[in-house]
Amino acid sequence: MTETLFTGISQLVTPSPGPQRGAAMRELTVIENAALLVRDGVIAWVGPAGEALAATEPYDLGGVAVVPGLVDPHTHAVWAGDRLADFEARSVGVPYERILAGGGGIRSSIRATAQASVEELSALARPRLTALQQSGATTTEIKSGYGLDFEAELRMLRAIRALGRGFSVVPTLLIHIPPTEGREAYVRGVCETLIPEVAAGQLATAVDVFCEVEAFSVEETRQIFTAAHAHGLRLKLHADQFHALGGTELACGVGALSVDHLEASGTPQIAALAASGTVATILPGVTLHLGLPAAPGRALIDAGAAVAVGTDLNPGSAPLFSTQLALALAVRLNGLTPAEALTAATVNAAAALGLRDRGALSVGLRADFLALRGPDWRELPYALGMNPVRDVFVEGVKP
Ligand code: NIG
Ligand code: FE
Repeated sequence: MTETLFTGISQLVTPSPGPQRGAAMRELTVIENAALLVRDGVIAWVGPAGEALAATEPYDLGGVAVVPGLVDPHTHAVWAGDRLADFEARSVGVPYERILAGGGGIRSSIRATAQASVEELSALARPRLTALQQSGATTTEIKSGYGLDFEAELRMLRAIRALGRGFSVVPTLLIHIPPTEGREAYVRGVCETLIPEVAAGQLATAVDVFCEVEAFSVEETRQIFTAAHAHGLRLKLHADQFHALGGTELACGVGALSVDHLEASGTPQIAALAASGTVATILPGVTLHLGLPAAPGRALIDAGAAVAVGTDLNPGSAPLFSTQLALALAVRLNGLTPAEALTAATVNAAAALGLRDRGALSVGLRADFLALRGPDWRELPYALGMNPVRDVFVEGVKP
């Protein structure tokens, strides 16, 4: 048994174990001059330092704020090639959707990723994951989706599995873009071949679909969801990025873990999310990078939804290598309060991955936490471009 008592905590700040919805997202517990006891990677006790029992191994954090480790519930951190030419083209007004419709964008990342081996893909992703972790992410979801052909999708998932040896990673199979010809046969193959193989190999815990005009229809999404569910995989969805097609309503109706993006969501989609157990994941980096409208984070919370926030780290729509910055942007772009943003990036982000064992500093949960540089936790949602996270602890130790 290893036991460490962390002291020197000016403020320990945490949401309650989640998910938290609506106004409850603002209810944080704040303990001034706190201590945190970790036993075998799990939180064993938390409270005022004066009430802590002496432990074998004390660890003085030096008088700084402590918050839960962040969970990044949406990344595409594995890719090859780059999208620098797209970036330049967009800077002179060529829209993201037009680049994609012309065979570039996501399709160019697919071509580059198809050339790369499992080892090359994980080597490319490792520094990206290190950046996310240094910004505070103690758990990171990573999607496939730049594979298109099934062997390349499986290579991506194997690269994600290899990354799990150094990071706490949650793998998702993303059915991203249909082939330009034979999409019906492709969807059938996804349902009858790819999903069963991924499930049998335990290569992913969930299946995600990009439901959009340039990607999959609501009906195709329904077929893929049916197959995923039949194979015991959880469901996630990219929806309402450019057009509200009905994917959000479908996902809420079938109990998906989360619907992500939501930049084009309106009243019916907000109502569907608020009435369901599905987490609404907002991705403010996309709003910043593509100049899209902001997802209605404020309205979602006011309607009673559980909102999560993530980077969406990817080469095309969000080259955002900081989970902390995603949290900070949710305050500026989506109208969340600092407290709501912390809840969105911790317990609600964990719930968006189906995880209940992390995201809050509560007895029995994983001891994933951050020691900030200063004594006030609000530096975390406040700072833009200077990392307010000093130390990252995963299961009670520095990774
Ligand atoms: O979540 N919108 C679809 N997929 C990704 C972007 C992928 C890309 O542009 O490479 C997203 O934004
Ligand atoms: Fe995405």
